[in-house]
Amino acid sequence: MTSLRRSFTFFGGKGGTGKTTCSAAYAVKLADDGFDTLLVSTDPAHSLSDIVGTGLDNTIRPIRERLWGIEIDAAEESKRYIGEIQDKMLAIVSPAIVEEIKRQMEIAYTSPGAEEAATFDKFVELMDMVKGADGAKGGRTFDSIVFDTAPTGHTLRLLSLPEILGAWIDSLIAKRRKTLELFGMVGKFEEDMKKRATDDPVIDTLTRRQKQFEKSREYLTGDMSAFFFVLNAEKMPIMETARAVEMLEKFGITVGGVVVNRVIPPDAGEFFAERLKDQEGYLADIERRFGGKNIVRLPLLRSDVRGMEQVEEIAAILGKLE
Ligand SMILES: Nc1ncnc2c1ncn2[C@@H]1O[C@H](COP(=O)(O)OP(=O)(O)O)[C@@H](O)[C@H]1O
Ligand SMILES: [Mg+2]
Repeated sequence: MTSLRRSFTFFGGKGGTGKTTCSAAYAVKLADDGFDTLLVSTDPAHSLSDIVGTGLDNTIRPIRERLWGIEIDAAEESKRYIGEIQDKMLAIVSPAIVEEIKRQMEIAYTSPGAEEAATFDKFVELMDMVKGADGAKGGRTFDSIVFDTAPTGHTLRLLSLPEILGAWIDSLIAKRRKTLELFGMVGKFEEDMKKRATDDPVIDTLTRRQKQFEKSREYLTGDMSAFFFVLNAEKMPIMETARAVEMLEKFGITVGGVVVNRVIPPDAGEFFAERLKDQEGYLADIERRFGGKNIVRLPLLRSDVRGMEQVEEIAAILGKLE
């Protein structure tokens, strides 16, 4: 089997299935294998710090040898993102509408989607740091990034943003061009407007954003990325995962495989006998539905995952994902 080790590895699935555990374990494995690895949480309900035992926040912090971590703070990113747009706008508008721009930006900051857009921006900024990605010009680089993502719906929306917003930005650019052309026809502004049509700050900003989306699509849909779903051997999670796999593949994102977590061991005792029988059926269903992909089973542990020792145990099992 060809190696599934990619520059970008994503772990997704329902809340509580074990995404954070798996991404931390997989990142530990990559670091132990000698790769400089960045572990990124895009889940607003961050819990990486608890598992890796290091306080993480919105800046890249060292966790251990060859391993770093960051928890993206959507609210903070959103504030910064809107602030940057505001600065650009204020630089190009007349003083008379400064207050209006500020008011609009206030609305933009609290509008739905602002945090996602900002999270996405940060997300691409981090992806640029991988060796071979084109943004890492002289800055800090990593061999690999592992993403601990938010529950499925949120993540699917995030990953589909480039496609959806890409088309929207296209239409904005076209509109802006049209406006500039109209101005150009008035005659006396002609020279000035012709210059602006080739050198317009709004088109410039939109085009830059468009390029960033295109780049992120290249990262996500090429050989650089693989997405893994974490699920439990139960009816609803299997169906939800099947739907999510289909959607990601429609977006052109490689689904590397599934991690079946909390698999009850056969010697679990009389109390689990009935559940074991159900589980057998669900495991067979998982094999049937996702048989073409890597399937890794993680046993139900005696306790919650506490500390690096258990993370390393899981890391050894997740090595089979490759
Ligand atoms: N195989 C397992 N056995 C026992 N507990 C587990 C196992 N996998 C995860 N857990 C525990 O389940 C809880 C949820 O796991 P977590 O990785 O945070 O899920 P998610 O990130 O998907 O919400 C954590 O307390 C974790 O320690
Ligand atoms: Mg989590």
